[in-house]
Amino acid sequence: MLRRLTDRAASYHHGMDATEPVFFNPLAEGYIDDPWSHLAEIREQDPVHHLLTGQWGLFRYDDTFTLLRDPSLSVDDENIDMERLERAALLEDVDPDDHNRSILNIDPPDHTRLRRLVSKAFTPRTIEALRPMIQRMVDEMLDQMAADGDTDVVERLAFPLPFDVISEMLGMPEADKDLIRDWSGAIVKMIDPVISEEEVAAALDADEKMGAHLAKVIDWKADNRGDDLLTLLLEAEDDGDTMTRRELRDQVSLLFIAGHETTVNLIGTGIRELLRHPDQFELVRAHGMPATGIDELLRWVSPVQITRRVATADIEFRGKRIPKGALILVSLASSNRDPDFWGPTADTLDLARANAGQHVSFGSGIHYCLGASLAKLEAEVAIESFAKRFGQVDIVGEPRWNGRINLRGLDELIVRTH
Ligand code: HEM
Repeated sequence: MLRRLTDRAASYHHGMDATEPVFFNPLAEGYIDDPWSHLAEIREQDPVHHLLTGQWGLFRYDDTFTLLRDPSLSVDDENIDMERLERAALLEDVDPDDHNRSILNIDPPDHTRLRRLVSKAFTPRTIEALRPMIQRMVDEMLDQMAADGDTDVVERLAFPLPFDVISEMLGMPEADKDLIRDWSGAIVKMIDPVISEEEVAAALDADEKMGAHLAKVIDWKADNRGDDLLTLLLEAEDDGDTMTRRELRDQVSLLFIAGHETTVNLIGTGIRELLRHPDQFELVRAHGMPATGIDELLRWVSPVQITRRVATADIEFRGKRIPKGALILVSLASSNRDPDFWGPTADTLDLARANAGQHVSFGSGIHYCLGASLAKLEAEVAIESFAKRFGQVDIVGEPRWNGRINLRGLDELIVRTH
């Protein structure tokens, strides 16, 4: 699969046939650093796009919005016509019983039942009550950064904050942090549009290990209940509804992974973007984060670049027929920069943008991100406190990207603070 894409990409980029239609190629050189120009090209020339790897892609804001809110679509892998996908061969040994049944991957009525139970821990009041703890954590991290001299924003702040907050919320034991970080990183590669055989093997292996680990943690928690989310889920009972241990494990795995693999990108890439736009950084430093500021950063960096749906019947977009069983990749990143929706300033970072909240970085419809207000709270406290603490900050050298197409973000961002 990878070879075919790279070969086609080579011929395309050497201009062998200028009339050849565009195709989405996230493996093209420079894509990770700047996906935006390539996304614009596809959005303009073929916004309802059949990928070489078999999936379909939507790149326009209006199409994204319509599709995500359409209740007839599915998120369940079982509805995918695998024959259409190049990655089918890599996944044929996976036992369907091993499919993750987290709320991100299941349809109503199970989705409705389980989301209702998990939502209990994500009410606006519960999240806002975390603010003092988050501020305390951030202040300690900034103290450490100030003492460092040259310091890595990702290692010191963007990664540990969401990781520690979700661990604390769930009431996870302290141990095994590094292992979990590695497993989680391997698992999320699976949601990239293109993936190698080795990456699939590593992801399946990590998923098994993470599952076994979480099963042990849940058993431990059953005997060590506390005032935490895991205990709440263990005790979850809603009009007689309960969840099985397996369902519980899959929800915890999702919360844990979604809880940190996304927000790290918003904080890390978000701080880099502010440093590259000194007027915007100065605005935050002098006056605090504008009410629309975090939404604009979400629009601007799209920490989750792609979400997915499965067509349960043939559907049409812009005169093109997407067949039943197709896996549709919805480009949140492209939609967030679509000038047809955002107007002529689509490619400008403007923290005061009035309608910034209409970004689609958290998806839309029944799967709208459950952790949206938590992520925004963490990013607001982290980024505003960072700007206020360090009046002048310079980026040192080149940042290191995490290499992910979907959960695009930084692995390292060294800065010098003054
Ligand atoms: C900047 C940070 C984040 C971004 C950009 C983000 C983005 C997303 C997106 C795009 C979806 C899928 C929506 C759809 O397909 O319509 C999603 C779902 C979800 N997210 Fe987030 N997320 C973030 C942080 C978090 C956090 C901190 C948590 C939890 C602690 C979380 C928990 C979830 C859950 C549980 C779902 C599944 C909801 C469902 O299927 O009903 N997310 N998120």
